[in-house]
Amino acid sequence: MDFSKLPVLIVLASVAVAWAQTVTAQNQEVGNRACAGCHAEIYRKYSATGMARSSGRIGDGSFRESFEQATFSDPGSGADYRVTATSEGHLLEFSKSSSGVQGQRLLEWFLGSGSLGRSYVFSLDGFLFQSPVSYYSADAKWGVSPGYERKQTVDLTRTVETACLQCHASRLQPIAGTQNRFGSVPFLQGGVSCERCHGPGKNHVARMTARSKTEPGEIVNPAKLDSARRDSVCAQCHLTGAARVATARSKSQTYRPGDLLSSYLAVFVWSNAGSSELTATSHYEKLRQSACKKASGDRLWCGSCHDPHDQPSVASRVEYFRNRCLACHESLACKGPQEARRKVENDCVGCHMPNRQTRAVEHVAFTDHSIPRRQASPSAPIANRSLVSFWNTEADLRDLALAYAVVAPTEPGVRPQALALLQKAETRAPEDVAVLAQLAQFHDKMGQEDKALALYQRILRIDPAHVAAATNLGIYYMKRGRPQEAISLWRNVLTRNPGFTSARMNLAVALYHSGEMGAAESTIRKALEYDPDLDLARKLLAEIQATRR
Ligand code: HEC
Ligand code: HEC
Ligand code: HEC
Ligand code: HEC
Ligand code: HEC
Ligand code: HEC
Ligand code: HEC
Repeated sequence: MDFSKLPVLIVLASVAVAWAQTVTAQNQEVGNRACAGCHAEIYRKYSATGMARSSGRIGDGSFRESFEQATFSDPGSGADYRVTATSEGHLLEFSKSSSGVQGQRLLEWFLGSGSLGRSYVFSLDGFLFQSPVSYYSADAKWGVSPGYERKQTVDLTRTVETACLQCHASRLQPIAGTQNRFGSVPFLQGGVSCERCHGPGKNHVARMTARSKTEPGEIVNPAKLDSARRDSVCAQCHLTGAARVATARSKSQTYRPGDLLSSYLAVFVWSNAGSSELTATSHYEKLRQSACKKASGDRLWCGSCHDPHDQPSVASRVEYFRNRCLACHESLACKGPQEARRKVENDCVGCHMPNRQTRAVEHVAFTDHSIPRRQASPSAPIANRSLVSFWNTEADLRDLALAYAVVAPTEPGVRPQALALLQKAETRAPEDVAVLAQLAQFHDKMGQEDKALALYQRILRIDPAHVAAATNLGIYYMKRGRPQEAISLWRNVLTRNPGFTSARMNLAVALYHSGEMGAAESTIRKALEYDPDLDLARKLLAEIQATRR
């Protein structure tokens, strides 16, 4: 390999749809324990649910993984993995006999209650990354994480971004200006906190403690909200759609229970999506397709069948859910098999809400919330579909443009429309970074480099922390013979995510071309710390060492 001919790598910008809670909202949050004294029964029941236990430090809670099947080989990456329990956390060891690569990471945090499985998080220099290895409860064994099945290397550089923790943890402690750096404790409340559904509780606790008021006040009871605000509470985390887009308003204000989620998060679905495929978080979309929901309207919601504070036990679940059905249906309404109609103790959901295997998601089965008469066979994907707002409201042009841009990589048919909408959105809001970043990417793909370059420069004037814009702009500077500017951009990017391999390798190449051999060498060493299975880096390191000798 000839280092001096090595081109810089191309990294594509992507829209961040994360809508992190602002610090002001969080200052008003007090955590679950503060509610326990007065709402002891709810606190006790809720603490046992999957939602309450959906994240934490390894060792917290009662769930324990089995380590009997904790050693395995992954054919994709050619790596052998082993996980062992230690007092600090779970130790993940990896090795590849083919290349001699080996190393370890300490998994300190988990995501997922373990009812289906668990994913893990480790930190390097305060930055959080996803573990390539997860635990699957059904088989009590360890395996590569969802999304890592086709990896050809040991990938240790997938960031844990705010969006991922936003659904699984509460009172997050992200460090501004970085992609994946968090406080030494990344979240102050494991799982979904009381306050994610009830709003910040500081004032409620203070008033109730002082008994200055007999009315509860200043705490949200979702059941007392209008239907759109009530449904917003669960939709925060249980509605994915085809595209989720953080609205312009979400930059300055944060959703709180009691608000309309649609003001902060625009969710789009395919208008003629007749496909019966499920995604892990699609309960909302499915429920809306059900005859029950269509006929009952706002009366039917998640809370009609689920007690948000409690999960029915395995022994009582058939009866528990049947009673939910019978709140609206007489058992005689079932036109199904004779025995189904005769028996009152029958399992309505066993026939009408079966578990189905989802596509590649968490390797497990989910319950069909479209409540069909009979199980349908999956239908083929449909051509010529279009995106519409899930909320039955007029879609904002800017949000729709971003939604099309989000799906464009996998839906070539919508690309012209995405571009046209983005251009319109840009004339209306020339300072909208999310729009500019997508537009730049389109120009890049069409080979209009000057336009893309100008857009990236504009983005960085508005938001100097924009990682994708800085990375891509660096590439243009290199191509135009401005390595010093590229170097400073990439150095900056790496303070925001030091595990960003493409930026790190680009930096090494640029330093090499500028004759800064020592700096190039240490940059590659750093790349290998974060990303040990990086063949290219090892080869370059050898070459650089040979040159310097
Ligand atoms: C010092 C005692 C106290 C503490 C601490 C407390 N509450 Fe309450 N809460 C009450 C009382 C009293 C009521 C009114 C009577 C009732 O509904 O139980 C109430 C009512 C509520 C209601 C119903 C409001 C309504 O309009 O229907 C919710 C929801 C609630 N609390 C949530 C919380 C949450 C969440 C926390 C922790 C952040 C919390 N409470 C902490 C005493 C307390
Ligand atoms: C802050 C995000 C968030 C909110 C808000 C939220 N959920 Fe969840 N929910 C989750 C996550 C994450 C899981 C998966 C928990 C696990 O097993 O790790 C989950 C799991 C569940 C489950 C499966 C049983 C369980 O407890 O694990 C039900 C049922 C459920 N949620 C219903 C609701 C309802 C009803 C609402 C609204 C009243 C709601 N959720 C609001 C994130 C959320
Ligand atoms: C939009 C909200 C959302 C985001 C973002 C999200 N999850 Fe989840 N996750 C859920 C919900 C809801 C469930 C419960 C599955 C279901 O829908 O029944 C879940 C389930 C899981 C489970 C299985 C938990 C169990 O029941 O044992 C794991 C593990 C998991 N998620 C990991 C992750 C990781 C890792 C990320 C980030 C890379 C992530 N999730 C991002 C909402 C989310
Ligand atoms: C996933 C969302 C969610 C979480 C998390 C949650 N709640 Fe609730 N809570 C609700 C909903 C929805 C209602 C309204 C239930 C109804 O009346 O149908 C409610 C009602 C209440 C009420 C008043 C009615 C009652 O049942 O007494 C209190 C008090 C309360 N919650 C306290 C808490 C506390 C304390 C926690 C944490 C330990 C908590 N909640 C966690 C969604 C949630
Ligand atoms: C809030 C009220 C409500 C609840 C709760 C409810 N349903 Fe329904 N459901 C309806 C209405 C209204 C219809 C339409 C009229 C009808 O067919 O009875 C319907 C229709 C149906 C249908 C016919 C579907 C079709 O394609 O024609 C089935 C099957 C069904 N419900 C099963 C269930 C089961 C099983 C449960 C419990 C898990 C349940 N429903 C809970 C209100 C409800
Ligand atoms: C008509 C009744 C009904 C309604 C309404 C309903 N669910 Fe469910 N849900 C169920 C049943 C039944 C299960 C399976 C529970 C079990 O197997 O123990 C379930 C399971 C779940 C699970 C666990 C994962 C899975 O898919 O098995 C989640 C998460 C969930 N529901 C979320 C929601 C959300 C969010 C809403 C509102 C959009 C909602 N549900 C509305 C009946 C309902
Ligand atoms: C053994 C499986 C089975 C069980 C258990 C079952 N059903 Fe059904 N149900 C069916 C089938 C199959 C149909 C469709 C019949 C058809 O399409 O002609 C049906 C039809 C229905 C319908 C639509 C009736 C109409 O108007 O055409 C409703 C509503 C319904 N069931 C509700 C329930 C409820 C509520 C329960 C629990 C008390 C229940 N079912 C238990 C299999 C079952």
